[in-house]
Amino acid sequence: MDMPTSDFVRAGSLAELKAKGRLVVHGRHSPILVIYDGGRVFALDNRCPHMGFPLDRGSVEDGILTCHWHHGRFDLASGCTFDLWADDVPTCPVEVRDGEIWIKPSFGHADPSRHWRRRLDDGLAHNLGLVIAKAVRGQLTADVPTREILRQAALFAVRNRDGWGIGATILTALGNLLPALPEEETYLALFNGARRVAADCDGEARRRERAPLASRPDLSKLQRWLRHWSAVRHREAGERTLLTAMASGASPAALADLLFAVSTDRAFADGGHSLDFINKACECLDLIGWEHASAVLPSVVGQMVSARGAEETTAWRHPVDLVALCGQAAAELPDLFANSRRSEPWSHHAELSRALLGDDPSGILQALKAAVAAGASPADLGRSLAYAAALRVAQFGTANEHGDWETALHVFTYANAVHQALKRIGRAEAEQHRGIKAARGVLHGAMAIYLARYLNVPPARLPGDDGSRLDDLPDTVEDIRLALLDAFDRQRQVDRAGQLVARHLTLGHPPDALIGTLAHALLREDAGFHAYQMIEAGVRQFGEWGNTDQGRHILIAVARYLAAHSPTERAALQTADIAQRLLRGGELHHET
Ligand code: FES
Repeated sequence: MDMPTSDFVRAGSLAELKAKGRLVVHGRHSPILVIYDGGRVFALDNRCPHMGFPLDRGSVEDGILTCHWHHGRFDLASGCTFDLWADDVPTCPVEVRDGEIWIKPSFGHADPSRHWRRRLDDGLAHNLGLVIAKAVRGQLTADVPTREILRQAALFAVRNRDGWGIGATILTALGNLLPALPEEETYLALFNGARRVAADCDGEARRRERAPLASRPDLSKLQRWLRHWSAVRHREAGERTLLTAMASGASPAALADLLFAVSTDRAFADGGHSLDFINKACECLDLIGWEHASAVLPSVVGQMVSARGAEETTAWRHPVDLVALCGQAAAELPDLFANSRRSEPWSHHAELSRALLGDDPSGILQALKAAVAAGASPADLGRSLAYAAALRVAQFGTANEHGDWETALHVFTYANAVHQALKRIGRAEAEQHRGIKAARGVLHGAMAIYLARYLNVPPARLPGDDGSRLDDLPDTVEDIRLALLDAFDRQRQVDRAGQLVARHLTLGHPPDALIGTLAHALLREDAGFHAYQMIEAGVRQFGEWGNTDQGRHILIAVARYLAAHSPTERAALQTADIAQRLLRGGELHHET
């Protein structure tokens, strides 16, 4: 290639191009395909935007370039694809001067943030994994803040699906995890969140907007109305009531209190999903800004009013009527909280958790009431609940059916959601009555933990606790990381994964490195919905306890759950890798 004049480089003579039909120009840039067709000269990236196959091996007919790998077709003049899954081919400026062809070997965009934002919208709208991956990578390279990318995907999720879904939940869980992740995992986290949003919205009806009422009743009346609409399963009325609370200027904590009070009118509704999703919608707004509340929160109302409560299930009614027991305990809560010894800090979280793992439901509820009387706040109860539920996972007996992991998972993510909800309500609102209705979620969670007691018969041993030997395991941070990733590469490594977590923490290595390894293990897999919930709730609860015995047990639970669900095909990881290499200008087909 000749030396450049300005930004252009000489690609060859027009006569040579006419004779050959196409030329490939190599250099420090990506290989560039120069094509003569219909009396015009075109220059494009020679790497197919789909998977990098050399386009000079393709064919051109009537202005359409066809790649011969998966037959993606492209408009030669613009590079735009006719096959959306293949993505557009980047083109570059070309000029013919005195019979010589000059190209400017740059595929940059005048406004990269805008370009990649538009491409993310395209990828989400058509559920195109490769386009989503490139758009996320492109936005990060253009220094678009992660919060902006999350906001774009989250608002797409709530507008393009008639109700909050698992895509928005995964996106929010990964958004919550971002601060705990090494920077190199940010791309995979955002890509996985956005692709799951796209898949969740694919083929779904869009949400229809509803308006607040023209009047502005006070919050207590709105709460009564919302509970009534939920009881009679009247979604539209529920949405308008909630929107009216927002229009009245209700604070985020007051809105949360409103929703959690209603959602706990039914016990453990929809297996815990209803409350879990409401909590995630609130967390989504923490990430993207509460100014989007009117777009996000109404999306949870449909599921909330239609959710089936545990009171409709046999297990909660016989042989012990757990719903009646919860009802009696809930009726005592207002007085118990009003008369509790709140002046003394209450710190018996771990002891209460052990009591919650008992096998007498009346005794369990009694322990909760005693804790309230002794000064435990609703959020304190939530913290104990979440740790008790984590122990169900950490001590899950592998003789159980594989599907039982999900029972343990549901209880844990529900308990974490209750805890986060009670913290949210309690943090900003001084009034004692706030959060007391929502505290019924603790009672329901405690009964769900009780019902899941069979999962720990016999209980798996907790590695790192008294007497368990870990000396034969690796001891450096890097060796433990490699051993963990190796364990996740193979099936049935549940106990080894837990032991390696214990090894890392009992040696005093930094928890951040371990969390980074667990996150990497998750993000490289085609993980199921529950795995994202597990790690996010686990990291959140580890943050409550820090590097203590309890914190270790929680991360053991995370590692054991992930190990039980690994490995997978890792197809999404391959897509992410292809997108990254294409954007970095790398060759994907080396035999060329
Ligand atoms: S269509 Fe070109 S690589 Fe797949």
